[in-house]
Amino acid sequence: MNMSNQLLKGKKGIIFGALDEKSIAWKTAIACHEQGAQLVLTNAPVALRMGEINKLAEQVNAPVIGADVVNMDDLKNLFEQSMQHFGGGIDFILHSIGMSLNVRKGKQYTEIDYGFNQKTLDISAMSLHRVLRTAYEMDALNEWGSVVALTYIAAQRVFPDYNEMADAKALLESVTRSFGYHYGVKKKVRVNSISQSPTRTTAGSGVKGFDGFINYAEKMSPLGNASGEDCANYCVSLFSDMTRMVTMQNLFHDGGFSFTGVTAAVIEQMEK
Ligand SMILES: NC(=O)c1ccc[n+]([C@@H]2O[C@H](COP(=O)([O-])OP(=O)(O)OC[C@H]3O[C@@H](n4cnc5c(N)ncnc54)[C@H](O)[C@@H]3O)[C@@H](O)[C@H]2O)c1
Repeated sequence: MNMSNQLLKGKKGIIFGALDEKSIAWKTAIACHEQGAQLVLTNAPVALRMGEINKLAEQVNAPVIGADVVNMDDLKNLFEQSMQHFGGGIDFILHSIGMSLNVRKGKQYTEIDYGFNQKTLDISAMSLHRVLRTAYEMDALNEWGSVVALTYIAAQRVFPDYNEMADAKALLESVTRSFGYHYGVKKKVRVNSISQSPTRTTAGSGVKGFDGFINYAEKMSPLGNASGEDCANYCVSLFSDMTRMVTMQNLFHDGGFSFTGVTAAVIEQMEK
C-alpha cells in the first residue's frame, strides 16, 4: 500500500529500532517518509555496526544518530542533535525496542537470572521512561506531539514462551499510561502503545516455537495477522493530527485476535 496523503507533512520524528528491512521500525520509517515526514533514525551502536541502517537512511533521507537507549547521555545527545538537525522541536517518536537477555541465554521463566532480568526490563520497558523523561526535561517535543511504543498481548494473557518479555511489556504499557498523564498535562503530548500481531522480525523470531505461534494467531484472527506494513500505517495514523485526542491507550492491532474466543478454523483443527 502506498497511500501518500501527506498526513505527516511538516512533521519531524525520531525512529528508534530499525535493525534490518524486516524491522517494524524500518517499515514505519518508510511509511512516515512517504507521508511527508522528516526523520532522524537511531539505534544502539552495536546495531549500527551491522551497517544495514545506512540503506534506510539513504532511502528516507535521514541522518543516523547512535544511542544506547539505557544511556542517558546518549539520549540527551540524540535529542540535542535531532533538534539541531530539524531546526526546532520534535513531533513524534517511535519506540520500537525489545530485548530479553534470559530468552537469549535460554533461561526458562521459572529459572530466570535476575541480573539479566533487570537489563531486560531496563532496555525493553524503562527505556520508554528514559526517552520520555529526556524529552520532557529538554522540552524537546512540540505541543500535540505523539509517542508510540510497540507491545504484545502477552502483557495481558499468558503466552508461556514469551517468558520475561511478558512482564517487560506489562511495565512498558504502564509507563505509557503514567508518563502519558504527565506529558499530556504539561504539553498535550500523547503517548500510546500498539499491541501488534506476531511478525517475522529478528526480535519476533527469538520467541521459542515462533512458527507455531504465528500460525495459531493467524487462525485465531478474523482478519488474519496484521503485517509489519499494516503496523507502519497504524503508526502513521497515530503520529498524524487525525488522532489528537487519543492518549494513554494500549491499542490492539491484531486482526481481531485479542477479542476472539475461538474461530471455525481452530475448531476444525481440533476436530482432526
Ligand atoms: N515481531 C513481533 O512479533 C512483535 C510483536 C509485537 C510487538 N513487537 C515489538 O516491536 C518492537 C520492534 O521489534 P521488531 O519485531 O521490529 O524486531 P527488531 O529486532 O527488528 O527490532 C528490535 C530493535 O531493538 C533494538 N535495541 C535492542 N537493544 C537496544 C538498546 N539497548 N538501545 C537501542 N536499541 C536497542 C535493536 O537494535 C532492534 O533494532 C519491539 O518492542 C517488539 O517487542 C514485535
